[in-house]
Amino acid sequence: MDTPYDIVRLGTVESTQDAARAARASSTRAMLVIADSQTKGRGRQGRVWVEPDAALYSSLALDSVWPVVTRALITLCTAVALSDAIEGEADVRTEIKWPNDLLVRGKKVAGILVEGSGDEITIGCGVNLWWRSPMDFAAAVLDDRPDDGLIERLAIAWVDNLLGHLARGPENWPRQPYLDRSWTVGRTVRWDEGSGKALDIDAAGGLIVETPSGIITITAGEVHTTRSED
Ligand code: BTN
Repeated sequence: MDTPYDIVRLGTVESTQDAARAARASSTRAMLVIADSQTKGRGRQGRVWVEPDAALYSSLALDSVWPVVTRALITLCTAVALSDAIEGEADVRTEIKWPNDLLVRGKKVAGILVEGSGDEITIGCGVNLWWRSPMDFAAAVLDDRPDDGLIERLAIAWVDNLLGHLARGPENWPRQPYLDRSWTVGRTVRWDEGSGKALDIDAAGGLIVETPSGIITITAGEVHTTRSED
C-alpha cells in the first residue's frame, strides 16, 4: 500500500508505543505499528489499558512539525481522526469526552495516548472492537469478532485522517467537528479543585467551565464528568 509512512504488523508486544518508537529508530519515515495484543499496554497517567476480546492496538511514531506548545491540540485532532475512522467502519455514533476518550452511548470504547519529547511524538490509539463481557464503564464498537482486514483499515484510516489534520496546521485544527462530537460540553465536570458546567472548547483546546466563582478554562490534567446532565 502506498502510504507516506511505514506500516509494521506485529504479534504480541509489551506496548505498541515502545514498538513504534523502536521500529522508527531505523527509518526516516513515520512508522505505524499495529499489534495483535499487548502485555503492558498503558493509558494516560500511568493507567493500565485493559484488553477486551478483540481490539485495535496501534501507534504512530513521527516527527511533528507543530510547535510544542500546540501539543495538546494533537490529542484533540487524534480524537476527531479516530472518531471518523470508527464511524467509517462500524455502525455506531461516537462522542468525545474531553480531552480524548471516545464513547459510544456514554461508555468508553477507545483511548488515545500521546507521548514524546520535542518534535518526536508517538500517538497511540486503542479501540475496543468486540467484548463479550465488558467492564461496567466500557463498551465495544462491534457486536461480533472483527475480520482481520478491519483492524488494518481502521488503523490506516485514523492515521490518514490525522495526517490530514496535521498538514492543515494548528490554527486549522478541527474544532467544530470536535464540538459536534463533544460529550462533555453541557455537562457538569469536576476536578480536584472544583466543579462546574462545561460551556465550550476554546481555540487552544481548553475546556471553558462555568463555576460558582466565575468562568475558567481548564487546559491540562483531567476532569471527571458526573453522570447528570445538569
Ligand atoms: C487512555 O485512555 O488512558 C489511553 C489508552 C491508550 C491505549 C493505547 S493501545 C495502543 C497504544 N499502546 C499503549 O500502550 N497504549 C496505547
